[in-house]
Amino acid sequence: MSRLKNKTALITGGNSGIGLATAKEFLEQGANVIITGRSAAALEKAKKELNGQVHTILSNAGNLNDIRSLAKEVQQITPHLDVLFVNAGIGKFAPVEAVTEEHFDEQFNTNVKGAFFTIQQLLPVIKDGGSIILNTSVAAHMGMASSSIYSATKAALLNLARTLSTELLPRKIRVNAISPGPIATPILDKTGLTAEQVEGFKSSIQTQVPIGRMGDPSEIAKVATFFASDDSSFVLGTELIADGGMVTL
Ligand SMILES: NC(=O)c1ccc[n+]([C@@H]2O[C@H](COP(=O)([O-])OP(=O)(O)OC[C@H]3O[C@@H](n4cnc5c(N)ncnc54)[C@H](OP(=O)(O)O)[C@@H]3O)[C@@H](O)[C@H]2O)c1
Repeated sequence: MSRLKNKTALITGGNSGIGLATAKEFLEQGANVIITGRSAAALEKAKKELNGQVHTILSNAGNLNDIRSLAKEVQQITPHLDVLFVNAGIGKFAPVEAVTEEHFDEQFNTNVKGAFFTIQQLLPVIKDGGSIILNTSVAAHMGMASSSIYSATKAALLNLARTLSTELLPRKIRVNAISPGPIATPILDKTGLTAEQVEGFKSSIQTQVPIGRMGDPSEIAKVATFFASDDSSFVLGTELIADGGMVTL
């Protein structure tokens, strides 16, 4: 249980779902962990759930001013980071005719612009030889109706893992992506769908997963641990699809 001993990791959107499960797993593997989130109350709740062991930073991943001050705030806690898990993200669904500029901008601002500038602004504090992990989605590989904007944001991140791995070669910083299939987290409750619609979506999506169930956030946390640890020292610019076979089979 010490695959991340002596490493410091920052997880964006670490107060819920996959980010929270990853914070828990990283702590168990011996890392120092910082989580960010856009709600002070949610961060405090997560900190309690993690027995007070994490540092928290209030930072909106869709706001460039917040992102610009992130490195300074990190340095008040630690001089450097070994691992950055770019996880904060939102998913909203609408058929093409119903997509508004707001729907487009909200998702691109958080999922792509926020991800890119978080990496750019934190690069000075990421150690040479560090690991950056992007949380994408199997949606990037599918033609799922009503998900054009969400899927496009995730497809953009997949390429970022490769281009940035090339650009960061001189610093030996590896950039990789995780593409989860459907994972049981609160994300669907934030889509604007009714509780009934969410339940309908969950039961229908389960039938599309060959393994016969949704994933647990802890199963993605373990993949993140692989990319964060030296076990993946020869792995860069790639993607690990963890989807119960949804697009792989
Ligand atoms: N669950 C799935 O089926 C699934 C599948 C594939 C990929 N993913 C990806 O996995 C990542 C994590 O999602 P999740 O399923 O764990 O959902 P979640 O439980 O809603 O977690 C998302 C986290 O990101 C945070 N976040 C959202 N917008 C933010 C912003 N502007 N600034 C800072 N934090 C922000 C959320 O904060 P709040 O608590 O304030 O909302 C929350 O902590 C997302 O990028 C998602 O696209 C999820």
